[in-house]
Amino acid sequence: MSLFQKESVITLSCPRKLAPYLKTETEALNFKTLAFRETGLDVRGTLNDCIRLNLQLRTAHRVHYLLSETKADTPDALYQWLTGLPWESWIPRNGYVAVTSRVSHPTITNTQFANLKVKDAVVDRIRAKTGLRPDAGSETNKTVLFLFWDEQQARIFFDTSGESLSRRGYRVANTEAPMQESLAAALVMASGWKPGTHFINPMCGSGTLAIEAAMHAAGIEPAARRRNFGFMHINGFERAEYKKQRLSLRSGRTEAIAGQIIATDHAADTLEAARQNAKAAGVEDLITFVCCDYSETPLPEGEGVIVMNPPYGERLGIRHKLAETYTEIGSWMKHKAKGKTGFVITSDPGLAKRIGLKPAVNQVFFNTTLECRFLGYELY
Ligand SMILES: C[S@@+](CC[C@H](N)C(=O)[O-])C[C@H]1O[C@@H](n2cnc3c(N)ncnc32)[C@H](O)[C@@H]1O
Repeated sequence: MSLFQKESVITLSCPRKLAPYLKTETEALNFKTLAFRETGLDVRGTLNDCIRLNLQLRTAHRVHYLLSETKADTPDALYQWLTGLPWESWIPRNGYVAVTSRVSHPTITNTQFANLKVKDAVVDRIRAKTGLRPDAGSETNKTVLFLFWDEQQARIFFDTSGESLSRRGYRVANTEAPMQESLAAALVMASGWKPGTHFINPMCGSGTLAIEAAMHAAGIEPAARRRNFGFMHINGFERAEYKKQRLSLRSGRTEAIAGQIIATDHAADTLEAARQNAKAAGVEDLITFVCCDYSETPLPEGEGVIVMNPPYGERLGIRHKLAETYTEIGSWMKHKAKGKTGFVITSDPGLAKRIGLKPAVNQVFFNTTLECRFLGYELY
C-alpha cells in the first residue's frame, strides 16, 4: 500500500509556546491529538493527510510522517535497523536525499555522524536493491528524512515539509527585526481577534501581523505561495490529489472582508516593504497602509484589537527613549482606543511596566530566542 494511503503517526513541530495554537488548528481540521509536547504534538494520518496539514497549518514548522521506530543502542544497530527498511520503494532511486536529526544518545557526540549513518544505510540499501543510488547532501528541497534518537527509542520520519512552513514565501522585501510568520499567526489567534472586526497594527514593520490576519480573514491558506514540499519527493506522490486539495482551498477564499485591517509605521521605506510583502501574499487590497507615528494610526469605530510589536531595545531603538515611548503607548491606548483591546509584545519587563496599564492577558512567547510577554489591555 502506498504511504499516501497508509496511516501512521504524524508529528507536528512548532516553536516553544505555540503548541496550544497548533493543537487548536489541527483539531479544527478534524485530527485528534494523540500526544502533546511543548514544541508540538502527534496525530494519525496518511501522507495525503500530511499534504492537508502542510497546506493549512499557520503555526506549525514541520510535518513529520513516522516510517519506523526501534530501540538502537549503537550507531551500528541504527544502521542495521535502517538497512532493513524498504527505501527503494519509498524514495526515487535517482533522487536526492537530505537527513536532519535531533539526537541525544550517549554514543553520539556529533549529530552529523548520526545523519551520515542514516544516509549510508538508505543509499546502501537502494544501491543493493536497484543498482542505482540517490544523491545525498544538505539541501532540504527534495526528499528529507528526520531522525529522532534518544536512549529510549530511535524514530525515522519523512519530513514532509522540507523547508520550514513558517517561510510562507511572501517576505519579498526586507526590514529590520521582522517577526517569524508562525509567531505572528499565533499572536493573531492569542489576541482573540475575530475576522469581521478591526485589526489594527501600528509599528507594523514588515507587516507580518497584518498580513497573517488578512490571509486568515480572506481564507488564504498559509502555503498559498509555496510550490515545493518534502512530500512531493516521495514515491507514490499523487499530484492529482494535491491539486484537488489546492483547488478546494482556493474555492474557499473570500474577496471582501468585513472589518478593517490597518497597518502603520513611521518609516516610509519600511511601510513600502510591508506593502510589497502584502502584495506578494495576495492581501495588499485588504490592508490599509498609512505612514505615520503610531499615535496617528486611524482607529475606526467598532470592535477590534490593536496589536503592537514595538522595538525592545535589544535589536532596535535606544532603551531610555523607548521607556518614554512605552509610557506614551499606554497613555495613547487609554485615551484614544476606548472600546478596543490593546496588545503589546515585548521582551523587556521594565519597558512593559512603563505602559502603566493593568494587563488582563499576560502570556509568554518566544520571538526567536528572546522570551517575550504578550500583554493585553481591555480599554474601557
Ligand atoms: C520591531 S519592529 C516591528 C516588526 C514587525 N512585527 C515585523 O514583523 O516586521 C518595530 C517597528 O516600529 C516602528 N516604529 C518605531 N517607533 C515608531 C513610532 N513612534 N511610530 C511608528 N512606528 C514606529 C519601526 O519603524 C519598526 O518598523
